[in-house]
Amino acid sequence: MGSVHIEAEPGEVAETILLPGDPLRAKHVADTMLEDVKCFNRVRNMLGFTGTYQGKRVSIMGSGMGMGSTSIYVNELIKMYGVKNLIRVGTCGAIQENLSIGQVILAMSASGDSGANIAYFEGMHFAATADFELLLKAHEAAQRLNIKTHQGSIFSTNTFYDDDPHRWDKWEKHGILGVEMESQILFTLAKRLGAKALSILTVSDNIKTGAVSGHEEREKSYVDMMKIALELA
Ligand code: HPA
Repeated sequence: MGSVHIEAEPGEVAETILLPGDPLRAKHVADTMLEDVKCFNRVRNMLGFTGTYQGKRVSIMGSGMGMGSTSIYVNELIKMYGVKNLIRVGTCGAIQENLSIGQVILAMSASGDSGANIAYFEGMHFAATADFELLLKAHEAAQRLNIKTHQGSIFSTNTFYDDDPHRWDKWEKHGILGVEMESQILFTLAKRLGAKALSILTVSDNIKTGAVSGHEEREKSYVDMMKIALELA
């Protein structure tokens, strides 16, 4: 018996799961980087897989885009499948000029515009932060693998499209490295439900400079990010 949006049987999801936004990215990583892979979810094409990486059991599943979709899967993965470590592996638009395409960010915290958090915390502002142990382990893994990372804060938004060219000026001034669409609710729910969470992001575009990534550099930085995340299994 599965949960509402995941058809896996209990026990089919590993304690540690990687969450890319794109389910086909989950499939690609399962196909190319994991062994003994089994697909545990096809509901809504939100593909999920469990396999092993260097002998350690790990899962990977799409989260979909935005905090609404992410919150559905995070709730079910923790409550119904007992997942303990949730690691987003995604992209962000950088809002600092010195960040270039392909650089890897370890997110320490996520500010954001989650309507769910605004309602839940009744107008107060919860500081959504990554789990320190996962963050530290990811940093150590990156150093071991010789992959340069930037540590800092990010912003999670539910609106990808916006007309205001100065939308991110204040956030840039406060040191936010980049903008994405999932981490604030991931960090908040993990904390509320007793699990650990981290977000590892690659810069896919720079909102300040207008730079966008080509296919090849995107692929290389994705692999770097996945390697760091898989070391956490
Ligand atoms: N905005 C929101 N999410 C993103 C972006 C962006 O510019 N780039 C990659 N993910």
